Amino acid sequence: MEVRRISIREAKKRIKNDPELSKMLVRSGWKEIALDLDGDGYADVSFSCEKVGRKIDTMAVDLSGNGEYDLYIHDSDGNGIPDTVYLVQEGEEEERVITAFGGKVELGFINLGVKVANLLVAEDFLNKELGLSLMDLAAYLKQYAAVMLLELQKRENAEGIDKVFYYLSDAGTYYLATVDGTRPRVRPFGTILLDDGKLYIQTGKSKDVSKQIAENPSVEITASMPNGTWIRIAADLVEDDSHDVKEKMLERMPSLRAMYSADDDNMQMFYMKDATATFCSFTAEPETITF
Ligand SMILES: Cc1cc2nc3c(=O)[nH]c(=O)nc-3n(C[C@H](O)[C@H](O)[C@H](O)COP(=O)(O)O)c2cc1C
Repeated sequence: MEVRRISIREAKKRIKNDPELSKMLVRSGWKEIALDLDGDGYADVSFSCEKVGRKIDTMAVDLSGNGEYDLYIHDSDGNGIPDTVYLVQEGEEEERVITAFGGKVELGFINLGVKVANLLVAEDFLNKELGLSLMDLAAYLKQYAAVMLLELQKRENAEGIDKVFYYLSDAGTYYLATVDGTRPRVRPFGTILLDDGKLYIQTGKSKDVSKQIAENPSVEITASMPNGTWIRIAADLVEDDSHDVKEKMLERMPSLRAMYSADDDNMQMFYMKDATATFCSFTAEPETITF
């Protein structure tokens, strides 16, 4: 999907052309514009870019209503999906990175890159796309931020198999190594499903990878994230032919429907058994989880 972002300059022009939005403009700099949505004199949301002349890449929201931004959502590569989210908590001097995502995480119901541009032509966008009035903008953004925060907290607090699931799904792509006789084989995979306490991956019976697993179910998986962390999982794969679990995978990853169906005699589901997952980074001790 193409994401078109706008520059601060372009945004300013749009705001100035809109009488209601221009009333909300409380800061208008080279690298940042801020809007006071509820008219209390404090900025509620700001859009900014790291360097003058660049496209908007950051949205900051005042969640607590105390006139300071608590949540920063940063989309550095402009793909419309937040890469990094910072949270400033009360009493903390420094911003804290609460998460750094891989390439595929979409949180909440807003696509940052597209919607930042759209929010700046707020009236039209809010009415047409969301059925909201301009006055609902503050509530909308806070709701968005809250949804995002909840998702992040789920990840922060996740333990055991849940933590492994979030890591692999946030990474987007992981690498699956199998044994082929005496040779290792590795390839990118992306399918992941957590169901009934089991972590599933999906493939097609016609593939070599499927034949290798049939011969030897011991596999290793690895994935990494832009924040300098990686995971390695050693496990045995067990086939699960349940129609229900195939359907759940197709529901979770609808693009698979172009290639597979739950009744096609090709789609194959495996869950991980006797798994040891190790979370690693350059800075912390490894953490091992078994499931
Ligand atoms: C990003 C990415 C994700 C992929 N995810 C899967 C997957 O989840 N399951 C799958 O069977 N193939 C997936 N593939 C395709 C396999 O990597 C490809 O079919 C590979 O050749 C299979 O290994 P094999 O040739 O040893 O059978 C993915 C490919 C890419 C690029």
